[in-house]
Amino acid sequence: MLRHPYTRYDQLYVYNFDRTDLGQIDDPDLIGTWIEDETAILFFHKEKAELIETIRKRSDATILYEANLNYQDWEAGLDITTFSVPPLTVAPLWEVDKLQLGVGEIAIHLDPSVIFGSGFHPTTRLCLQVITDMITSDSKAIESMVDLGTGTGLLSIGAAKLGVQNIRCYDNNPFACEVAQKNVTINECEKQIQVMEADLRAKLPDTNVDLLVANLYKGLLLEFFNNPDFWNAKYYIISGFVPSMEEELLAALPMDKLKLLERRKSEMWRLWLLARK
Ligand SMILES: C[S@@+](CC[C@H](N)C(=O)[O-])C[C@H]1O[C@@H](n2cnc3c(N)ncnc32)[C@H](O)[C@@H]1O
Repeated sequence: MLRHPYTRYDQLYVYNFDRTDLGQIDDPDLIGTWIEDETAILFFHKEKAELIETIRKRSDATILYEANLNYQDWEAGLDITTFSVPPLTVAPLWEVDKLQLGVGEIAIHLDPSVIFGSGFHPTTRLCLQVITDMITSDSKAIESMVDLGTGTGLLSIGAAKLGVQNIRCYDNNPFACEVAQKNVTINECEKQIQVMEADLRAKLPDTNVDLLVANLYKGLLLEFFNNPDFWNAKYYIISGFVPSMEEELLAALPMDKLKLLERRKSEMWRLWLLARK
């Protein structure tokens, strides 16, 4: 999250703890957290050795790794820069001033923060492409959408910019929700998109929508596939898995209710577009 007065950060300090119950952390330089496999990763834009030692001691935690990198390099060394999924052009906030749009191009201004969904992960890009293809080929097909695990909110904002009026997006990471809400506001999509903090593992939201997007991970997808409440949407974009996981995931799909319309791939990642029969 780019916090006032910063318009970009130079450095990223990353600390990975072996547990998630680290207590309240009130530090203005904390710009993101991820919870991964019972471990917690904290992102600061300044060095925080003293604070980290305090957290470590009070939580009886171990630091699994720590790293210092250029903020620009955190996305696997890829420069976070403007990219296009026509007609959408997505620009990080620090490139908005020099953005020049061609005829018919629609801008999205994005604070990528250190939240998943800057558009540089192949799965985000794949999902955005399929959403765009679906809406541009039939502008009436998708009027409502849920975005499960929204990250920066980019997929929902993309759909809203293409005309989808009724979008709910969810994430269990409070930083993701804060960043997604900021991005929704910057892009003036507040009337179309509701951002909600929720643990989808605990309860699924209403899935009676035209399109459900779930760019998540295998464990959570398997849980959803086995939950009848997941299968109320007309279309599904499912991503976040690699070929070695496909067999297990496919076996968990209730194919009596579904048609597999399309499979796409980007690098090692896969996406399915499904429709309810
Ligand atoms: C792979 S990222 C996808 C982000 C974004 N939709 C995109 O495509 O770039 C998955 C997101 O799901 C969120 N997430 C993971 N487990 C969750 C859960 N149990 N409930 C809600 N959100 C969850 C993570 O915080 C993360 O933002």
